[in-house]
Amino acid sequence: MFAHSEHVMRAHTCPCLVIPMSKSPQFIVHTSNPLNGEPPLATLRGNFITPRELFYVRNHSPVPDIDPQTFRLIVNGMVERELELSLDTLLNDLPKRTVMSTLQCAGNRRNQLIAYAPIPGEVAWGAGAIGNAFWSGVPLKEILNVAGVKVGAQYVAFMGADEVIRHDENVGFGGSIPLDKASSPEVLLAYEMDGKPLEPVHGFPLRVIAPGYIGARSVKWLAQITVQAFPSKNYFQAHAYQLFSPQTTAETADWNAGLQLGELVVNCVITSPRAGTQVSRDVQVEGYAISGGGRKIARVDVSSDGGETWTTANITQGDQQWAWTFWQIRLQLKAGETEIVTRAFDSASNTQPEDVRHIWNFKGYMNNAWHRVNVNVKQ
Ligand code: MTE
Repeated sequence: MFAHSEHVMRAHTCPCLVIPMSKSPQFIVHTSNPLNGEPPLATLRGNFITPRELFYVRNHSPVPDIDPQTFRLIVNGMVERELELSLDTLLNDLPKRTVMSTLQCAGNRRNQLIAYAPIPGEVAWGAGAIGNAFWSGVPLKEILNVAGVKVGAQYVAFMGADEVIRHDENVGFGGSIPLDKASSPEVLLAYEMDGKPLEPVHGFPLRVIAPGYIGARSVKWLAQITVQAFPSKNYFQAHAYQLFSPQTTAETADWNAGLQLGELVVNCVITSPRAGTQVSRDVQVEGYAISGGGRKIARVDVSSDGGETWTTANITQGDQQWAWTFWQIRLQLKAGETEIVTRAFDSASNTQPEDVRHIWNFKGYMNNAWHRVNVNVKQ
């Protein structure tokens, strides 16, 4: 990991794009081409709506250069009417809705899985592959209504315009969500983030926002929507973003038997104090919590004795579906090396596993083990 430098600007600023990419100098860049980066944890908790210069970026290939004038969104598959929609039509002729939604990558917190056992070839995300924004655009259900969904359709598949090369072939980036979800009012074809046009790195000119689902289903640089009877067969739905048991390896994986990821799991992270720092005995502990599928956070627990006893934290912000929750608590700690641990319960009483070893998987997805931070408590 290295701090953001001009590097990123050179690699990702295309002279033909009107909106330049702007990330904070504090942005932690994991890979610069394609850009993959996240904000430092301490900055993430500073704003309920994540500033765009701190919003994580997860790209599988370079940002495509899309001309908004010639851009057309194709809608096809099991529909009564195939559509070809210009950006002008999407912006001016169709209803607009704004949804606050937290986007989280399925690889968030992978670094703790890696600390348990290596995960070669995957980005070592900390707990910052998450961000909250107001997204505005056309509800997907409006497009489906105009196209007319045929009987028997069960999934809505998306394809981005980026070229993603796997095994010498351009597989593109795609994924799908069930038709029921696609027809829910919160799912958007977004063209704005926090009231401004999307930046190229975040999907300009159009992206899917599928609240409550892993970030991979919020396909950026959206080019095509296909209504169909089966999930997307794209590499990123049928191969990557699948969950396997801790025993499965890349060599033994049966890609037809993996669990295709969809809704996010309940998760909770300590953003402050930072691991490895010195703190006073009276310490303020804060963090974020989130669940998937529109479930809210019901309770956040914090422990300083390895989970023997727990104290309930105060929810300070966030009680909406689709968005994260901020929490905090003051703890009185004993002097010396101390591990602070947290876990959350969501509105369906789902909670988190105690240890990464129970959920380790060779692709490194969905780490929601109790979040642990070691600190040194001063005398
Ligand atoms: N869409 C396309 N076309 N290509 C991608 O590489 N990455 C996905 C998703 N949409 C991706 C994509 C993943 S894995 C995540 S977590 C989110 O975009 C990240 O969105 P962001 O970069 O705007 O934060």
